[in-house]
Amino acid sequence: MPLDTIETIRTRYSCRAFTEKIPGDSDLQTIAQAGVCAPSGMNRQPWRVIVLKNQELMQDLEREGMKNLAALPDRSIYERILSRGGKLYYNAPCMMLIPVAENALLDCGIVTENIALSAASLGIDSLICGLAQFSFAGEQGETFKEKLRFPVGYDLGIAVLLGYAEKAGAVPHTPDMDKILWIQ
Ligand SMILES: Cc1cc2nc3c(=O)[nH]c(=O)nc-3n(C[C@H](O)[C@H](O)[C@H](O)COP(=O)(O)O)c2cc1C
Repeated sequence: MPLDTIETIRTRYSCRAFTEKIPGDSDLQTIAQAGVCAPSGMNRQPWRVIVLKNQELMQDLEREGMKNLAALPDRSIYERILSRGGKLYYNAPCMMLIPVAENALLDCGIVTENIALSAASLGIDSLICGLAQFSFAGEQGETFKEKLRFPVGYDLGIAVLLGYAEKAGAVPHTPDMDKILWIQ
């Protein structure tokens, strides 16, 4: 039974250690459809939702992302990933990539949250992965875009890793209720 919406929003959290188990295609299709149900400015729907299950391609993206992060003058992000186990994609067994048209990052964010929340409601763990950008930042970026069938002129907005947590019981960040202001 899918979780109630508010409960889903409250309990979704970022998973950083996945098992090898791949969510079923029917669940992945439901999640991808939730993604493309997102509203968009002037209903442009300036995105694709690419469901990636190909392990070889995921490993290539991972390797390239880590290589590009290691080459940055500031190695703090790279070191942080190393301290978390050295995996940009945390061994996720599949992911959804969201390429978007220029200036469509707000729309992309809404697709992303739809994906993360619908996954959570189906009992599938996720991680929104902005650092996936680095898989596309080097010389292999265009090749990956072709392999993943990005439309011409689209760049990666973000990726969402999907799967099942190695350990149950993780919780989301503590929301800061002081950030809610009421002006009566
Ligand atoms: C736009 C965006 C990009 C993110 N990129 C990454 C990322 O590349 N790697 C990562 O481990 N977490 C990433 N996160 C997850 C955040 O770190 C996480 O949402 C935050 O710490 C709050 O924790 P929670 O999601 O468990 O509530 C990203 C989240 C968002 C919204």
